[in-house]
Parts: sequence; C-alpha cells; structure tokens
Amino acid sequence: MSNNSAPSPLTSAADGPLSGTIRVPGDKSISHRSLMFGTLAIGRTTVKGLLESEDVLATGDAMRAVGATIVRQKDGSYTIDGIGLGSLLEPEHVIDFGNAGTGVRLTMGIFGSHNIAATFVGDASLSKRPMGRVLNPLRDMGTNVIARDGDRLPASIKGPEQALPLTYRVPMPSAQVKSAVLLAGLNAPGETTVIEPIATRDHTEKMLKGFGAEISVSLNEAGERVIRLQGQPELKPQDIDVPGDPSSAAFPLVAALIVPGSDVTIENVLLNEHRTGLITTLIEMGGNIEIVNRRETGGEEVGDLRVKASRLKGITVPAERAPSMIDEYPVLAVAAAFAEGDTFMPGLDELRVKESDRLAAVARGLEANGIACVETEDSLTVTGGGNSIGGGTVVTHLDHRIAMSFLVLGMAAHKPVTVDDGAVIATSFPTFTALFEDLGAKISANTSEAA
Ligand code: S3P
Repeated sequence: MSNNSAPSPLTSAADGPLSGTIRVPGDKSISHRSLMFGTLAIGRTTVKGLLESEDVLATGDAMRAVGATIVRQKDGSYTIDGIGLGSLLEPEHVIDFGNAGTGVRLTMGIFGSHNIAATFVGDASLSKRPMGRVLNPLRDMGTNVIARDGDRLPASIKGPEQALPLTYRVPMPSAQVKSAVLLAGLNAPGETTVIEPIATRDHTEKMLKGFGAEISVSLNEAGERVIRLQGQPELKPQDIDVPGDPSSAAFPLVAALIVPGSDVTIENVLLNEHRTGLITTLIEMGGNIEIVNRRETGGEEVGDLRVKASRLKGITVPAERAPSMIDEYPVLAVAAAFAEGDTFMPGLDELRVKESDRLAAVARGLEANGIACVETEDSLTVTGGGNSIGGGTVVTHLDHRIAMSFLVLGMAAHKPVTVDDGAVIATSFPTFTALFEDLGAKISANTSEAA
C-alpha cells in the first residue's frame, strides 16, 4: 500500500487529434464517503460505479477493520453491510492509508468520536501532510492524540467515552476538515455546528442527509455557510450510483482542447456546483465545451461534456473560484501553456499542502518543458504560446495529478514529455493510460519509443 513499488516513468507525445466518447471512473470524494457512510448505517448499502483506485480501496480496508463487510459483486458493484454508528470495533492492526488524504482525514473524524484506539500511517507523501487541521478539533471533542512532530503521520488516536459536540469555524477552505468535524459530530450527543466561511464541496452534507441524518445548511449574516448536525442519528442504508469524477474528466477535457483537431465527449460527469470551476474557467478562456444531457441522479447534477480543440486565451482566474477547482490547477496550468498570453491564478495557498507542494511541482514541471511561469507564495502565472514546448522530465513527488497533467502536456507539445513515475496515477485514475489510448493518444512506458 505505502508505495514500495519501483517508479515507472511514462512518456507522452503528440500523435494527431483525440476523438471518441468515454466515461471516466467514479467520483473519488463520493466513493470514499459511500464506503464510510455505508459502514455507519445498519444494513446493506449498494454502490454502483465505485472508483476502484488505491485511495478508495484503502478506505474500504479501513472500514473493514472496524467491522464492515464490503464485497465486490460479480457485476462490479459493491455491497457494504454496515454495523452502525456507535458500534465500531477497535481495529486489530495499523491502518495504512497509502496516499489518501481524504481517506485518512475523514476516517480520523469517524473513529475519533468512538471509544476505540487506532493508529494511522501513510506513504511518504501523506506522512508530510498536515493532520493538525483535523486532530485539533478532535482534541476539542475529547479525543486523545499522539502524532509525530507537527501533527504528521504516523498518528494514534483514542476517542473518549462520550465525545463533546462542537461549534467549529473551519480555518481554511477544506471540505476534508469540514467533513471530519461533521463525521466526528455524528457520534456526539446534541448538535455539532460547522461554520464554513468559504464554501467547499458539499458531498458530506448531501450524502448524510440521504442516509437519514438530521442536517441543515443555512447562511449567516456574513454570508457564511452554517451546517447544523444532530448527533447520534440512526443512519439508513442507501443505493448509490457514483457519477464520473470531474477531477478525472479534467484531463481528457484539457487534452481535447489543446490537441489540434480533437473532438471528445465525456459522458456522465458530476456537475455539482462546488466542482465545476475548471469548466467555467476553460469556457472563459475560449474553450469550446458544450454541456449536454444535463440530468439529476441521486441528488447530484450530471451531464455529458462535448469538447472540441480550441484557441485559448490567458485570463485571470478569480481567487474565490479556487475551492471549486482546487484539484484542477495543475491541468489548468497545462491548458494555460497553450493559451495566448498570461494566465494568472491567485489564491492557491492550499495547493502547497496537497499530495505534493503542487504549486512548486507545477512550476518546476513547466520550466523543465520550456514554459515561462512565475510562482509566488500563493499564485502562479503561466505565459502561453511558446514555440518549443516539451522535451523535459517532470518530477511527480508521488502526486497522481502532477503525473497526469504533464502527460496531457506531452500530447500537445512540440517534443515528448516524460513523468518520472506513472505508477502514482493508480491513486485516483487507474484506467488513465488505457482510456487515453482509446482516444488516440500516445503514452509509452519506454522513453525512447515515444520519442
Ligand atoms: C476532498 C477535498 C479536497 C480535495 C480532495 C478531496 C474531499 O481537499 O483536494 O482531493 O473529498 O473532501 P481539501 O479539503 O484539503 O481542500
């Protein structure tokens, strides 16, 4: 799990237009939550379209460790026989979350208000990421914590006999932190209130409501979201159909825009308003993106994206849009490399604490491929339109989205682009290479072959 496998470089190169109709795998955020909430319900939850990536499978293992029975059925769907909130068993082994920030932070929230002990570890990337943002509110609820210096993994927690409900103002725009506090609040008596000054993805709120929790969302006078959750509900199992992940759709979306002559349709993409910032931005840059067949499934809006190669122009991306496209900046930077003029992306401080320091990783990757950019503490400016793009090797720092973004770069570049490790892609999008090959892209494990 914690990536002991040898790095496997991949190289992409321009090879004509991309065309075809595809579906990307299920949404990662919804997949994690499906396994978690299914565990906390009593009875059988079924999940169609679960993302079968390393991150999500790690969450499945963590839920099994506290007593859930999770089985992949012959048709590819999953069943989760939950044991119910308040009834989690103490895990008999260390919980290894690999690369999965969402998995570990939300699980810490769930376990942290149960009177059980658990120890969490992760890979080199996850072990660098800050956990205090989740461990601090848990401490306030009565959880005992022992963590490595700076509140990093490995960390052990032991929940109190009875957790204290909290009123908590989320200090940074983070759906993971919001969710961890709400999930801890599930097993605390009384009301847990989370105040969210800047709105982030709302899958936890929506799905908990679907599972029968009493949860309400309102705006206070300052326009901040106030989420109120009544503790200790009886959660009811659900049938879930996971829509395609917009953060994975981002790669074929950008590739189709920048590879000349391309025409690609991506079906069944989640269009939750807190996840569509990239689509809005690319349309503002002049991208030919048509959203067709808009419909609702399981309380979420989905649609098909028809994307054609386009002449893009640089823009300023409003900082307040960042939470709705936070995982998409690396691939947006790639789109910006092919746009005319400068694309200015402010408000990116949270990118520094993702699977890698994404702001630095993107800037170094662009520079290695002859693309001019300026990195500040919390912003990136990319100058597009260079006439000698590519030819570099990108250091991925165990970051799946860095690997995928720069492979997309290579598909439209003048020279091939190599990423030092393609194995990390399995974190979120194991079918990435196969799917791009279906569209006509050239991705090779052998550098000299693609070159
Ligand atoms: C996620 C929230 C975001 C995002 C991550 C998934 C979630 O993280 O980057 O990939 O499912 O809640 P932050 O909450 O740290 O912004």
